[in-house]
Amino acid sequence: MPKMTFIERDGTRREVEAPLGLSVLEIAHRHDIDIEGACEGSLACSTCHVIVDASWFSKLEEPTEDEEDMLDLAFDLQETSRLGCQLIMSEELDGLVVKLPAGTRNAS
Ligand code: FES
Repeated sequence: MPKMTFIERDGTRREVEAPLGLSVLEIAHRHDIDIEGACEGSLACSTCHVIVDASWFSKLEEPTEDEEDMLDLAFDLQETSRLGCQLIMSEELDGLVVKLPAGTRNAS
């Protein structure tokens, strides 16, 4: 089973099982990691924002324009920011590390 690591706001690292095909948002929810995901992955909020570890960022698929637009609204936006609901676990992403942003802001 692939794994991924979330770095929580206080710096705690949590390594969890990351089933293939699930989004980072879904994986977070399964493990009670505090990512909101208000729109359940329909690209209508930015509350699933995560900051991807720089060494992993280039391995991800490019964001769609819709994702970029939503990301522009995210709080604490960084160069390696992505939306957790758009990152789907694959074999290549086994070991992925993402950090929770300092906070979220709902788009609405
Ligand atoms: S959960 Fe709303 S954009 Fe990801």
